[in-house]
Amino acid sequence: MKEPVARTTVAVVGTGTMGQGIAQVALVAGHPVVLYDAVHGRVEQAAGAISARLDRLVDKGRIGKAARDAAVAAITPADELAGLAHAGLVIEAVAEDLSVKQRLFTDLEAVVADDCVLATNTSSLSVTAIAGALRLPGRFVGLHFFNPAPLLPLVEVVSGYATDESVADFAYETAAAWGKTPVRCTDTPGFIVNRIARPFYAEAFRLHEERAADPATIDAVLRESGGFRMGPFELTDLIGQDVNEAVTRSVWESFFQDPKFTPSLAQRRLVQSGLHGRKSGRGWFRYGSQDDQPEPHTATAGDPPEAVVFTDGPAPVRELVQLVAEAGIPVRRSGVGRYGFLGLPESGQLMLADGSLAASHGTDTIQFDLALDYRGATRIALAPAQGAAPEAVAAAVGLFQALGKRVSVVRDTPGLIVARTVAMLVDFAADAVARGVASPADVDTAMRLGVNYPLGPLEWGERLTPRWVAGVLDRLHGSYPTGRYAPCVALSRWSTSPGGVLSS
Ligand SMILES: NC(=O)c1ccc[n+]([C@@H]2O[C@H](COP(=O)([O-])OP(=O)(O)OC[C@H]3O[C@@H](n4cnc5c(N)ncnc54)[C@H](O)[C@@H]3O)[C@@H](O)[C@H]2O)c1
Repeated sequence: MKEPVARTTVAVVGTGTMGQGIAQVALVAGHPVVLYDAVHGRVEQAAGAISARLDRLVDKGRIGKAARDAAVAAITPADELAGLAHAGLVIEAVAEDLSVKQRLFTDLEAVVADDCVLATNTSSLSVTAIAGALRLPGRFVGLHFFNPAPLLPLVEVVSGYATDESVADFAYETAAAWGKTPVRCTDTPGFIVNRIARPFYAEAFRLHEERAADPATIDAVLRESGGFRMGPFELTDLIGQDVNEAVTRSVWESFFQDPKFTPSLAQRRLVQSGLHGRKSGRGWFRYGSQDDQPEPHTATAGDPPEAVVFTDGPAPVRELVQLVAEAGIPVRRSGVGRYGFLGLPESGQLMLADGSLAASHGTDTIQFDLALDYRGATRIALAPAQGAAPEAVAAAVGLFQALGKRVSVVRDTPGLIVARTVAMLVDFAADAVARGVASPADVDTAMRLGVNYPLGPLEWGERLTPRWVAGVLDRLHGSYPTGRYAPCVALSRWSTSPGGVLSS
């Protein structure tokens, strides 16, 4: 294997957003960096922008003046590809176009030495396909940085079919030496993050399409109950609906239109209307004055029940019952109550969202959504069965308010918001591991660092138990028998394995 931290000359091809960020990372790590871009003048622009960013790091005390001067002096602009002849590692960040990238790498092979490692920063193209036309495809690897590259720690190291193990090791060690947190994965659509994150967006858009709740409410529930940093609607407005939808469509097409990855019609319409999000002034939400931001649905004050009746239930329900008792609401233990249900004396019953409709358990049933942690959650979604008595809804609302939570009452929809989203994320993660895309640890690291999830999906699945997650999906599949929600074989196997171990 080549020495990763030796002062190998790194060449960066394509000096736009990502190329500049990657070059900065390599420069700060002490490498000489050659910059090349097809558009005349871009390299000089990029060198200026990198210097300015390094100046700001000096002002903030993050690097010393001498390190900044050394990094700036280590930039070599190249007017033509021949200037990259001495590079030991070339990282490409040009336009996301297969034929452009293939042509570039074929040209590069004629310039660089045979032991030069060639890497692509593609986010959605196949590493195997880009390498397809190369003379030495073994030296080709994916090095997928996240934007902004100098700040975000995650790097997906992607092995194509032909990538030599030693080359993937070299890429991994190099990213680690640059202070990044690399993860290893095989070349599958979306790699780790863009594959497993699909349902985070898709389930929210589907819930909106089914009129379960409005975007502001779904976002608020996923943030305040699910523990996600941002909701899917506000996040895709920030990313750009066009960009997010293009990734979804590309992954779906690459999986031969597998229904697990079906894009959203509502998002398609948004893109067709030019409502791309913040950058166009409007996406799911309008941007302009603060007054334009819709508020999530929040129920008005209700009276808590005098007591609740509880027998036993899954861990999240027991955690909730503990809080009820701590809030001074008596919990009557009943030997005859239904497992998982919380009785609201004289009005109705509460149950954790489990992938079924509340109405399928009787008109007196109200489902509450999953929370990352009921103690920390500041909002809970409730879904009363159609026709539920207003007193029962008021008592359920009052119960959660007595625990210090805001309450969003939404339409009775299988799986509610957090339970449905998390169950799908666990399913996608288990499937990726079982197919050898990445190790369980790398999947969880990638999702925590790449998209800021509060827990890795597999850690979450373990906490909820794979059996509970599979049960939610089984019932969702019963309601929507398209195959989208059918638990993957890996999850079914995991949920019945004696040691509860997910096998890869
Ligand atoms: N922007 C992101 O958030 C992000 C994140 C991860 C990965 N990526 C991937 O990184 C790559 C670059 O994305 P970006 O956002 O930096 O794009 P960008 O448009 O900001 O920059 C691309 C640069 O490549 C140059 N270029 C185009 N064709 C070229 C060629 N044949 N030879 C040399 N230079 C060429 C362009 O002149 C431009 O300066 C894409 O593959 C993209 O999918 C982007």
